[in-house]
Amino acid sequence: MIEPQDHGVAGRREIGFPNQPPAPRDPAELACDVTTRVGTTIHLRPIRPDDAPRLVDFHQHLSPRSVYRRFFSAHPTLSAAEVERFTCVDYVDRMAFIAEDGDQLVAVGRYDRSPGTAEAEVAFVVADQYQHHGIGTLLLEQLADAGWRSGITTFVAMTLMENRDMLGVFVDSGFRVTTSVEHGIVSVRFLIEPDEAYRVVRTARHARIQSPARHRADTPPC
Ligand SMILES: CC(C)(COP(=O)(O)OP(=O)(O)OC[C@H]1O[C@@H](n2cnc3c(N)ncnc32)[C@H](O)[C@@H]1OP(=O)(O)O)[C@@H](O)C(=O)NCCC(=O)NCCS
Repeated sequence: MIEPQDHGVAGRREIGFPNQPPAPRDPAELACDVTTRVGTTIHLRPIRPDDAPRLVDFHQHLSPRSVYRRFFSAHPTLSAAEVERFTCVDYVDRMAFIAEDGDQLVAVGRYDRSPGTAEAEVAFVVADQYQHHGIGTLLLEQLADAGWRSGITTFVAMTLMENRDMLGVFVDSGFRVTTSVEHGIVSVRFLIEPDEAYRVVRTARHARIQSPARHRADTPPC
């Protein structure tokens, strides 16, 4: 069973005191194994610069539909600058988790803080054959945990109006989501405070997963 993480505020950046960054956690501590809704054990961990070749390969194997939903345009290849930006993060203001099935990179979720604010934009992409396994939801949980610890209070996202999968992940997350629509783009916004309502929804979601995670010896459960 995957238990909700303690969203303790130890190490949180105090908003308004930019010269006092939080004591950074070792990103490796945030790695964990999770069970998807189809019973596969997936390893979630913060991205590293040496993931670059696998990220390029992952992107090249996405369907045009998934790429369009992620980038709002045909974007068959990541540029070198994008690869560097996506894989080199500071784990505080810019964070990304990858999901691995064995050696295969199967999903990426990221947030980028708007400079000087407590808001961050989130974005996700899951390999087509792994979609609807609950991985997007699990990545959102991990990003929210990490963001909250880093002093981020609010996630925002831009999603195509027809992207029911992404909107479903946000709406079902347990956070109180607000949306507004302009020119076919849905702007999503929600506080990531792990309040009681969120904890209840998250605990119930994990309770529905039948197979307990097989934890790696060196990594805790999420
Ligand atoms: C959008 C996207 C990231 C979602 O990822 P995902 O891993 O498929 O998402 P999940 O499996 O967690 O959730 C998808 C659905 O499964 C449901 N679900 C997830 N976990 C579940 C569980 N344990 N039990 C029952 N239902 C579950 C969700 O409620 C959602 O339902 P819905 O499709 O009916 O709304 C993925 O489809 C994707 O990569 N799309 C292309 C790129 C994209 O659209 N990116 C968004 C730009 S921000």
